[in-house]
Amino acid sequence: MFNPFMLVPCLICLYTVLSMAIPLKVPALVKLLLALLTVSGLAKLFLLRSTPSGFDILELPRNIALLLSAMFSFMIAAAIICLAKDVIFVLWKIFSRAKFPAHHASLTVLVLAVITTIYGIYAGTRVPDVVRHDVKIPGLGRELDGLKVAMLVDIHTGSVNRRPFVQEVVNRTNALSPDVILIPGDFVDGHVARRKYDLEPLSGLRAKFGVLAVTGNHEYYYDLAGWLETIAGFGVKWLDNESVIITSGNSRLVIAGVPDPTGGNHDTPRALEGLPENVPVILMDHQPRFARENAKHSIALQVSGHTHGGQFPVVYELTRRFNNGFVRGWYDVDGMRLYVSPGTSQWDGFPMRVFDPSEISLFTLHAE
Ligand SMILES: [Fe+2]
Repeated sequence: MFNPFMLVPCLICLYTVLSMAIPLKVPALVKLLLALLTVSGLAKLFLLRSTPSGFDILELPRNIALLLSAMFSFMIAAAIICLAKDVIFVLWKIFSRAKFPAHHASLTVLVLAVITTIYGIYAGTRVPDVVRHDVKIPGLGRELDGLKVAMLVDIHTGSVNRRPFVQEVVNRTNALSPDVILIPGDFVDGHVARRKYDLEPLSGLRAKFGVLAVTGNHEYYYDLAGWLETIAGFGVKWLDNESVIITSGNSRLVIAGVPDPTGGNHDTPRALEGLPENVPVILMDHQPRFARENAKHSIALQVSGHTHGGQFPVVYELTRRFNNGFVRGWYDVDGMRLYVSPGTSQWDGFPMRVFDPSEISLFTLHAE
């Protein structure tokens, strides 16, 4: 059955073939091979989308999955670079009488797309470095000054990010000796039976005040109940419109969490109900787009992910529009600090990052 979701990538593919492959002055066979290479970018999308059960119908060997994801990423990168080339083409036609060097322009697109894809896939699939942030929290008590909060988000364990990746992320996180670990969503792409083994190293995370989490949108695409139970079994505590209070001496800090709105029960006021006054609050909310509403509730810091930092020019701009302007890094939202992590990883359909490194975040909290 025709799926309208597929129309957009098919049109992107067609545009890329017409703009990049056809103008090349090379033998027809080379053109055909290049066109087929570009079209092969659609293969994983069709394989994944060909049954109603969605993203996880095939268990592909990791290298095959990575190759198919790389082909899709190449198609997207080539399309975006073609767009830049065609803008130059239009300007050339307006301002110059000389003939546009179509062959060299398309060849440049091809070379840039290949280089960008190789680099982008490397950057998108490597184990992330630790990025440290010092954060002032108004009202934080002296005994909690210096509290270390590690954050992992958008781990997206799937056909590309498997157990060795998760194990190394866990090792690097534990090496920071965090006091508490936050995981605001998008743990996994796939069903419990296939991906539990890959995500299992999370059970090795260690922090004095525990590992706290909320759901991301991807938790809802498979077996939500199964994943809630499985991940809780790894020692992760879900915050489902609720809060916990971290106490050290006379100092207290609230960590609150709301589930992703995909489940229809995202409710920040409920998560903050019954809390003592004058205790600073950190809120986990997978998607950053609710930050302005959340800022009305005296929250010191919201931490989010979901955007993967935009991943790639032009994709960054689309991501910004879909997320109320919040893509990566620090924002001041009506007096509330918001940190949007670029993510520990990203969805393996498009595992490519350019000028957008993934990270394991470590916040050191300071009293203000
Ligand atoms: Fe997400």
